[in-house]
Amino acid sequence: MKKILITGGAGFIGSHVVRLFVNKYPDYQIYNLDKLTYAGNLENLKDIESRSNYTFIRGDIVDGEFIQALFKRHQFDGVIHLAAESHVDRSISNPMEFIYTNIVGTVNLLNAAREIWNEIYSNKRFYHISTDEVYGSLGDSGFFTESTPYDPHSPYSASKASSDHLVRAYHDTFGMPTVISNCSNNYGPFQFPEKLLPLFIHNIRNNRPLPVYGKGLNIRDWLYVEDHARAIDLIYHDGKLGNTYNIGGNNEWKNIDLITKLCEIMDNKLGRQKGESAKLITYVKDRAGHDLRYAIDSSKLQRALGWEPSLVFEEGLEKTVDWYLANQEWLDNVTSGEYQKYYTAQYAER
Ligand code: NAD
Ligand code: TYD
Repeated sequence: MKKILITGGAGFIGSHVVRLFVNKYPDYQIYNLDKLTYAGNLENLKDIESRSNYTFIRGDIVDGEFIQALFKRHQFDGVIHLAAESHVDRSISNPMEFIYTNIVGTVNLLNAAREIWNEIYSNKRFYHISTDEVYGSLGDSGFFTESTPYDPHSPYSASKASSDHLVRAYHDTFGMPTVISNCSNNYGPFQFPEKLLPLFIHNIRNNRPLPVYGKGLNIRDWLYVEDHARAIDLIYHDGKLGNTYNIGGNNEWKNIDLITKLCEIMDNKLGRQKGESAKLITYVKDRAGHDLRYAIDSSKLQRALGWEPSLVFEEGLEKTVDWYLANQEWLDNVTSGEYQKYYTAQYAER
């Protein structure tokens, strides 16, 4: 039986990856290590929590001694590393958490894996999940490829870039069996409502302003989270060691166009008059260092492993809206308490 450690499995993308692996691979033992920060929520995994091939471990990847002891105890064969501080705005107001978790935490995992594997790397794998934001910002044309030079601008993307470099360094220096993927913006169920889509769905439903940064002209590439999880499954099993794979939806949207589309869907779902939700759009002070455009060339992954996005975006967006509307209790739970303080601090002065 293979033992796989998935870090950050109680978060947005991690919970989809854990669910996929627990369901698809009954002969793997899946360990989900998560600190349960504000972004981690075991509610995201209710449907699989009692499965015999699933174990949850609460713990902090920044605690090196704890991580070493954990690896010694369980002798993991593979690691899929998603745990991170993940929100750009929070990295602007509090960079240090990003340095500790994203950089120190990643190195702690690399060190612990290296120690137990002791240079015998057959059937072992350390898979680091990263973001397209490490590549910086594009102008009106062009795409990020796997050889685009790193040029991060936010403390979040700089911390992820740093962790990517360290993973590569452990491959090149110590021969560690690593693989990395860099994905574009994900959307779908269980995303914490600090990120654009769940935040705006929540605000529209509650008739609150929709804070659009700057002029709303920034462009992101959007991918349905289950498509990302499928790519992770493929890369974990068949990705070439030492390689990087870009993952993207080939689905660029200018923020304001995306928000207008979302407003139309919400009017429809909530039985509102056409144009009613769009009245909530409020232009606010831009994010500092706001990257203009992200666009991913995922042709390497498509060619090498036969992956492609499965959903038409409009279909995925509607599915996502339906999920948040049907899971109001989940949204209410995660937006109670701490969230209110964050929201006030983040948007009050804009
Ligand atoms: P998320 O913020 O929803 O979840 C992060 C999870 O990590 C949470 O469950 C949290 O409790 C856990 N965590 C945080 N600090 C920890 C620590 N010190 N020790 C143990 N656990 C800790 O993030 P997400 O959006 O699911 O992103 C997951 C990964 O995918 C991240 O590495 C992120 O950089 C990457 N990524 C995200 C996107 C996106 O659009 N969300 C796109 C590309 C890549
Ligand atoms: P976000 O979901 O934070 O993802 P990222 O910054 O990692 O791409 O933001 C997506 C886009 O939406 C980004 O260009 C910033 C913008 N945005 C707003 O205009 N208002 C908001 O309140 C938020 C959270 C984001």
